[in-house]
Amino acid sequence: MISYKLAKRLLWALSPENAHNLTIRALKLGLASAHPPVRNDMLTVRLWNREFINPVGLAAGFDKQAEAIDPLLDQGFGFVEVGTVTPKPQPGNPKPRLFRLSEDEGVINRLGFNSAGMEEAARNLAAYRARPDRRAGLVGVNIGKNKESTDAAADYVAAAKTLAVYADYLVLNVSSPNTPGLRALQDKSELAHILVKVKAALSHSGVDLRLPLLVKIAPDLTETDLADIAEMALAGLADGLIVSNTTIARPPELKSRWKDEAGGLSGKPLFVSSTRVLAEMYRLTHGHVPLIGVGGIASAEDAYDKIRAGASLVQIYSALVFHGPELATNIQTGLLALLRRDGFATVAAAVGADHR
Ligand SMILES: Cc1cc2nc3c(=O)[nH]c(=O)nc-3n(C[C@H](O)[C@H](O)[C@H](O)COP(=O)(O)O)c2cc1C
Repeated sequence: MISYKLAKRLLWALSPENAHNLTIRALKLGLASAHPPVRNDMLTVRLWNREFINPVGLAAGFDKQAEAIDPLLDQGFGFVEVGTVTPKPQPGNPKPRLFRLSEDEGVINRLGFNSAGMEEAARNLAAYRARPDRRAGLVGVNIGKNKESTDAAADYVAAAKTLAVYADYLVLNVSSPNTPGLRALQDKSELAHILVKVKAALSHSGVDLRLPLLVKIAPDLTETDLADIAEMALAGLADGLIVSNTTIARPPELKSRWKDEAGGLSGKPLFVSSTRVLAEMYRLTHGHVPLIGVGGIASAEDAYDKIRAGASLVQIYSALVFHGPELATNIQTGLLALLRRDGFATVAAAVGADHR
């Protein structure tokens, strides 16, 4: 086993993308030491007829091809969201396309959905599901459209039909800033059209109709967009929302020399805006639509802030680059202490507490 301290020195000497690829390879080879999840009933979240053993998940984009699910669950996550998977394989944008903003504890990426395609993801997911020794934890599958595709709805339908059977929940990613035109799919009529088509396709393909269908949204939406999406979710077109993806904004306090690179910004500089949008979405949906809070979480306090703002579950990604894989279990331990301090018996009891 390699200690994280040593691994970090090695990884930070590499380009961010090479470091990421090496991390996935090391995980697959079983070279990363495990950090078992904190098991405590206070942390168990029951949602969409499913039981999350803890509310801390790995956000989409880390395991795009669904190739390291077990080793990632071994890092203590309650759930892992794989993808974004596109129907056909595509290479993504030219490199370099991933930047560490160390001084800001942020990341900018313009990967542009580098994906091995849905058939490969389906093979990997099928192999994972077939393993009798697979770990406790749930798997979300996040899908997108190919860059060259002119029929977005057809792409989401194709990926949903192929991958839904392996998913504990399915996510339509309509909020990555790195695929031209993608974020326009958050518009009311476009999104409703895609959701209706995907739901219809799933109901005809023998998938359990209770499979939760989620939409992942951008933190850069207008108040009108947010209200429209809330309305669709309340009407039952979506079973949950993930708030949020990376931002195209560049807060003035950024220091890193990479701050003006094109792409989506994540990590610490995203925390405030993504939490604000999360709270707004909770308000607009009156707490009736489950929300997954993601964006800039780097500590138990941050995760707790998201929960109090309205998140039933949280996800992390960028902070792992700066704090290492122990972060998931550290957040769980810290969350337990914060819940006890404030007299909450469960995570669910604290969801939306700031609104009461
Ligand atoms: C390198 C990188 C790749 C990402 N790829 C995806 C992706 O394929 N699909 C997606 O929905 N989100 C993707 N994201 C966004 C994350 O899932 C998450 O929403 C965002 O980074 C905010 O969380 P964080 O601040 O904890 O990183 C990516 C983020 C990063 C840093």
